[in-house]
Amino acid sequence: MLVAHSLLMSMPTMAGGYRSWKFCFLLLGLLHFTQSSISPRTTFLTGNPGRVLSLYDVSDALNTTVLLLSPDATTLFAGARNAVLSLDVSQPDVITLKRKHDWAPKDARDRCGTDQLKNCANFIRVLQFINSTHLYTCGSFALKPHDIILTADTLSVSRITQSAKGRCPYKGSERNTAVFVDGELYTATTNDYSGNEPIISRHFSKEPKNDLSLEKLQNILNEPTFISSFYTPSEGKVFLFFREDEAEYNFMQRFTVSRVAQVCIDDNGGQRVLQKRWTTFAKSQLVCQREKQLPFNLLQDVVMVPPPEGESPDKTLFYGIFTSQWLSGQSAVCAFTLRDIKAVFSGDYKTYSSKTNQWTVTPNTDAKLGKCGLHNGSDDLLNLAKKNFLTAKPVKSVDQKQLLTATEQLYSRITAQRVQAANGHTYTVLYLLTGTGFLQKAVLLKDRAHIIEEIQVFKQPQILTSILLSATKGMVFVGFSEGVIRVPVSNCSFYSSCAECVLARDPFCGWDSQGKGCVPVSNMYSSLHQDVENGSVKEQCEDLEHQNDTPVPKVVRAHLNRLVKLPCHSSSRLAKVSWRFANHSTVPQTRFLQHGDGSLVFRATPSNALEFQCVTEEQGFQKIEAIFSLKVQASPHSYITAQQHGVELELMPQPLLDKDTPQKTYYNEMVALSFLFVVALCVIAVGAVLWRKKSQNKPVTEYATNEDFSIERSVTTP
Ligand SMILES: *[C@@H]1O[C@H](CO)[C@@H](O)[C@H](O)[C@H]1NC(C)=O
Ligand SMILES: *[C@@H]1O[C@H](CO)[C@@H](O)[C@H](O)[C@H]1NC(C)=O
Ligand SMILES: *[C@@H]1O[C@H](CO)[C@@H](O)[C@H](O)[C@H]1NC(C)=O
Ligand SMILES: *[C@@H]1O[C@H](CO)[C@@H](O)[C@H](O)[C@H]1NC(C)=O
Ligand SMILES: *[C@@H]1O[C@H](CO)[C@@H](O)[C@H](O)[C@H]1NC(C)=O
Ligand SMILES: *[C@@H]1O[C@H](CO)[C@@H](O)[C@H](O)[C@H]1NC(C)=O
Repeated sequence: MLVAHSLLMSMPTMAGGYRSWKFCFLLLGLLHFTQSSISPRTTFLTGNPGRVLSLYDVSDALNTTVLLLSPDATTLFAGARNAVLSLDVSQPDVITLKRKHDWAPKDARDRCGTDQLKNCANFIRVLQFINSTHLYTCGSFALKPHDIILTADTLSVSRITQSAKGRCPYKGSERNTAVFVDGELYTATTNDYSGNEPIISRHFSKEPKNDLSLEKLQNILNEPTFISSFYTPSEGKVFLFFREDEAEYNFMQRFTVSRVAQVCIDDNGGQRVLQKRWTTFAKSQLVCQREKQLPFNLLQDVVMVPPPEGESPDKTLFYGIFTSQWLSGQSAVCAFTLRDIKAVFSGDYKTYSSKTNQWTVTPNTDAKLGKCGLHNGSDDLLNLAKKNFLTAKPVKSVDQKQLLTATEQLYSRITAQRVQAANGHTYTVLYLLTGTGFLQKAVLLKDRAHIIEEIQVFKQPQILTSILLSATKGMVFVGFSEGVIRVPVSNCSFYSSCAECVLARDPFCGWDSQGKGCVPVSNMYSSLHQDVENGSVKEQCEDLEHQNDTPVPKVVRAHLNRLVKLPCHSSSRLAKVSWRFANHSTVPQTRFLQHGDGSLVFRATPSNALEFQCVTEEQGFQKIEAIFSLKVQASPHSYITAQQHGVELELMPQPLLDKDTPQKTYYNEMVALSFLFVVALCVIAVGAVLWRKKSQNKPVTEYATNEDFSIERSVTTP
């Protein structure tokens, strides 16, 4: 349906038969794409004893919007509604309150008016260390942003400033970003009550530096949503990530692009041109798109992962999560390197001409643009910088690929770390928070991603959430409307056998053959059995698992001609379930029906009074999960007997068995129909275009498309 929808939406913008054909092929290609997705191996719903979480949900932690960890990782600072808290997170099983600074606006109700009641509180939007002893915090303060400086240990007010206009947003639900560098605040937010005036600025600038902000130029920003910002010492730059409406192309449909922008920390504004304005502001498009597929264009969150020790800072990675304007309910993860970002900013730029309403490419001769120190330059150079703030090339994701795509998840927050596996190899682990409250933990393998587990952290979908990783303590903190929750990065002891431990492919866990347990990987246990890449039980556990773990057969009694349902539970969603007889031949599909949950359903007849084995297979490793021995009885009292044996027996209405399978999906039919539908529409569209072309008898504009459906298009060189 989505495909048909986007086709119809795009139809009027097509100019020329060639282009519409190309577009049709693209859409047909997309039909294949819609199904590929990876599932988390294990799911832990709230309350599952395998994943014990600590929750701090006292009333003073409602609407936790920002989190900050002390350098020793024992104190967590939380910005909540009308309060800043410091929490003791050093205890393994409980989170306790240390200090609290109440910070509620007093005259809020008069100011807000009835239609703004939901914003009528102080939502903390910035919480950062200024230096080792003091915190800076900025809150929406019921539509009138305020900021204060607090001492970190007592949360007492050290300084109140006059106004926080331009430092954090007026509304609690608006996104913003801020970062402190040497006591100076770099911030991107809106500057007015309506939220329509974006601003990227520097505050608390140290002598002789000036506070700076953005020139109010056409196209410099178009309704941006600011996502995050990072300081990169090697470049002396702050990189800012956001998304905004695009202004480069005229499409019927409004188009959003994701961006990375830069400002230099030594920037001081120009002498005459660009006074008190950034001279180093430049922006570029971020592309998270696979070849011949629709782009994931809506950036949701970014995390910076520094390079391994001793490696070039250019290897710094930015992992971004994206959703798509076209593929509803889907997300993708892409990585960008600092090296690629640098290359794009030192390349050519685009210049907008309001006369022709066109963007042209300006060569960046001698790489004058995009570098720091421009504020010292001549007026001519600054005038050039003022006009050229958009790079000609976009920043493409590493190898132009997506590390992970999820067709049924909207990721909202990301954090990441590098983890050393038992064999010394370093893996990147991503923590992805979904809109519906699951924290997914994924490991990036050589050529794919593996989602080790997902843990339900909250039940109600949330508008505002925050995520923070403490790599040293092995904890992920999630802030949401009800408080703060702490999730250990792993629970190795959940895996009770070598096979389970190895199959999890969790770089944090390995099987200790002496202690007979799945234990956390540390330097002490370099001899642990682990295979993150392939999860090969055969290689890791072969001579370890002598114990005969074939389950004891369970006797199931059912009476004649009733339906029997034999359950099969595997903790892994990646395991393939199959049923076989005692002689290892698989049960025939004609008489036996396997449900999506793995259970086997059939009618109790004398010829079915057999032994059934449920077998799971994962990464080439087979395991017998359960064995059932069916006894068929003539008398109708068998149901109770079966219950006593702990086997769930379900009696179902008879006709169900005969033909239609309850698990039947119509995916293939849907694809076939959609295919025919798209083909029919394409034929009509192309026909119509050609007919119009012929009847009008004048040339139709051909777009200078480059590679297929990329956003990057039609730029004329002067
Ligand atoms: C880890 O899993 C084990 C076994 O299910 C459970 O007993 C334990 O409480 C779990 N620990 C944590 C911290 O989740
Ligand atoms: C940290 O910043 C605060 C507020 O600006 C200031 O009062 C304090 O002296 C600073 N402390 C240090 C150690 O620099
Ligand atoms: C450029 O500006 C920086 C910082 O404002 C200053 O230290 C430096 O001396 C200037 N360089 C020149 C060549 O003017
Ligand atoms: C604030 O928290 C309350 C529940 O505590 C929730 O209903 C509301 O949606 C939250 N507001 C925002 C902006 O997240
Ligand atoms: C994983 O399996 C592939 C092929 O099956 C093999 O080439 C590779 O060496 C294996 N990797 C590890 C770490 O065992
Ligand atoms: C295995 O057992 C089933 C049920 O008794 C039987 O139908 C099937 O023919 C047997 N297969 C082989 C290869 O013996």
